[in-house]
Amino acid sequence: MEKTLVLIKPDAFRKHYSGDIIKHYENEGLKILAMKLMKMDEKIASKHYAEHIGRPYYDDLMGFMTSGPIIAMVLEGEDAIANVRRINGKTNPAEADEGTIRKLYAESGSRNAVHASDSPESAAREIAIFFNASEILD
Ligand code: PPS
Repeated sequence: MEKTLVLIKPDAFRKHYSGDIIKHYENEGLKILAMKLMKMDEKIASKHYAEHIGRPYYDDLMGFMTSGPIIAMVLEGEDAIANVRRINGKTNPAEADEGTIRKLYAESGSRNAVHASDSPESAAREIAIFFNASEILD
């Protein structure tokens, strides 16, 4: 069993897509171990996106991710990291497969509804940014 971090981003939360998005994960057998409605501040956002510092889109990404409420979740399942990224679809919704969350709910490659960890190392690092061990119910 593997754990991964998912964020429902401000665009999707604002448009009331959260329930539909969570349903996609549950329908695929992923289990919710932790969930939090919150607003990211600069400190959390810059920690979470540390590897993107210096990229041309970094300031836009920071502004967007701190612009409104998000939902942070820890999901668990077999191959959860790869599975959740498959369910999310490609970063740019124009390239995402039919039926994926980004195809259905994302506006663009930068307002793209969800984030998910891309490796076991990122998952461990990212989960620790958003949740204490006592908040993860496994
Ligand atoms: S990389 O280099 O493969 O890691 O980049 P990628 O996965 O494509 O994107 C990393 C995250 O940056 C966001 N992104 C952007 N935000 C704002 N503006 C632009 N132009 C832009 N391009 C990429 C993208 O949504 C990814 O966010 P996460 O939360 O990791 O999905």
